[in-house]
Amino acid sequence: IKVALITGGYTGEAEVSYKSASFVQSQLDTEKYDVYPITISLASWFHVDDAGVKHPVNREDFSLTVNEHIVKFDVAFIVIHGTPGEDGRLQGYFDMINLPYTSCSALTSALTMNKGYTKAILKDIPNLFVANSVLLFESGRKDGATLVEKQLHLPYFVKPNAGGSSIGMTKVKTLEELPLALDKAFDAENTGKQVLVEEFVTGREFSQGIFRNAGGELIVLPATEVRTTREFFDFEAKYIPGLTEEITPADLSSEQQQRAAQIIKEIYVRLNCKGMVRVDFFLEQETDHFYFIEINTIPGQTAQSFIPQQVRAYGMKESDFYGQLIDAALQ
Ligand code: DAL
Ligand code: MG
Repeated sequence: IKVALITGGYTGEAEVSYKSASFVQSQLDTEKYDVYPITISLASWFHVDDAGVKHPVNREDFSLTVNEHIVKFDVAFIVIHGTPGEDGRLQGYFDMINLPYTSCSALTSALTMNKGYTKAILKDIPNLFVANSVLLFESGRKDGATLVEKQLHLPYFVKPNAGGSSIGMTKVKTLEELPLALDKAFDAENTGKQVLVEEFVTGREFSQGIFRNAGGELIVLPATEVRTTREFFDFEAKYIPGLTEEITPADLSSEQQQRAAQIIKEIYVRLNCKGMVRVDFFLEQETDHFYFIEINTIPGQTAQSFIPQQVRAYGMKESDFYGQLIDAALQ
């Protein structure tokens, strides 16, 4: 099976994507899958072969010409976080050229990349809560701080509405910090010029994966609890080993585990997801309510990332897991 492993992207998460792709490649069974990493950047789409030679992708059918042979792919395994791999753009392109891919559809990807819109759709799921928030558009940027101050209680999380890995995100504790935080989020690269400001939820933070296996069954992975020594689970806390304690499986009561599993399944079904996705949430201390943070349709696959930890805790080999995602995409 010829697999195009798609990496890179247009945002600050490209570095994360390279690590994700190299981890996925290291796990895939080479007897069964013939894997070609392909980098997509704003400037070019290309594959670098073992000899270091760069081969551009033919954009008409996503084929390669390597040493005069034409390589046509059976499936695309997308590991670009953020645009254009997590927001439906590549999915739409692959739909048009009829190449199966491992991730959610163009519509689901585009919708879920927008945190504010996704919250609006999921907010009435039983037992799921969403933090009070304000969604700001570029046109309302000037008056954004005033609007936020009127509608929300401090502290705030200010983030690019279509960002990832906490890039461009600030925890705001005083109103003086707000204008700068808004500018930082609005100006984050290629994240859509929308900013989501949310009220802070006091409690524990969790992240949990779910996927459909090759047999068509929906499998909820064990949750991970995140305990960071930093102000919040920011970019450094996510990728510098040692700054964050990640507990997989998380210490949750069986009732909480069941509740979380039900919520996550409902999210997966309601958003018509495909492949693997990961949901991030807070468990509010005072109320024991699960608050939705966001859904990631191309969740990180670096050696440190949650999904590989959860797959191991579930008792599955990563090679089997990634193989099943490919096999499911081909059905
Ligand atoms: N956006 C990062 C890659 C994640 O969700 O893991
Ligand atoms: Mg996230």
